[in-house]
Amino acid sequence: MKYMGSKNRIASEILPIILEGRKPEQWYVEPFAGGCNLIDKVDGNRIASDSNEHLIELFRALDKGWQPPDFVSEDLFKEVKTCPDLFSLHFIAFVRFGCSFGSDWNGGYARNVKKDAPGAEILNSGAKSYCRQSKNNMLRQIESLRGVRFENRAYSNLYIPDNSIVYCDPPYAETTQYAQSGFDSGAFWQWARDKSLEGHSVFVSEYTAPEDFYPVWEKEIPSSLNNQTGSSKKATEKLFVFNDIY
Ligand SMILES: C[S@@+](CC[C@H](N)C(=O)[O-])C[C@H]1O[C@@H](n2cnc3c(N)ncnc32)[C@H](O)[C@@H]1O
Repeated sequence: MKYMGSKNRIASEILPIILEGRKPEQWYVEPFAGGCNLIDKVDGNRIASDSNEHLIELFRALDKGWQPPDFVSEDLFKEVKTCPDLFSLHFIAFVRFGCSFGSDWNGGYARNVKKDAPGAEILNSGAKSYCRQSKNNMLRQIESLRGVRFENRAYSNLYIPDNSIVYCDPPYAETTQYAQSGFDSGAFWQWARDKSLEGHSVFVSEYTAPEDFYPVWEKEIPSSLNNQTGSSKKATEKLFVFNDIY
């Protein structure tokens, strides 16, 4: 699913590192699952959790066979934003992620061409519309998520089975996108230490980490491919693990 900060583009590089040596029954857990763009490429025992209730309800609904609409008008898009009480959580999530520009919860109504451009009505509502592409994309993706246990929890309240592989993709500390989200990075890194010491294999995607974490993978990503930066700079994506003998 298109999602801000999606790890789809680096999945093939980091997953072999994260999953190396995974035992057959070992759980793979994502406390910041977002658009599930990594966990949909993993099999076996899996938990996808996120603090966004709407998002998790959307995955649960899709898993139960819910079919998203083919078209959402701009008026309906606005109504969903202004009168959320009138709609189900999964429908709100579909509209706000699937029909918004950049798949941004706070983004504007997405259209392929300007309202008054020739053929606009067909282009903006037809088979290639944002809405239809999102629908098709989600229906395809849900097939790769069968059997996943979906949880709606803050990472710190998530139950993690013993000796799990835990992949964390939290809101990045140095990005404008999450600047006002109030995410406490210090508390998160302490939790990642604690989980590592409990015996889980913990991996964290970030640009920077405290000194007692070290990168096992890194790559410079052009900002056009990385929508977490919110800037025009290139950013080096890293995958960190805790160094318990630090
Ligand atoms: C960078 S996105 C994850 C993207 C995902 N890896 C993907 O590829 O689609 C970070 C996610 O963390 C979630 N989040 C933010 N604060 C959280 C918290 N305290 N506990 C759990 N999830 C949280 C957000 O809702 C968001 O979906």
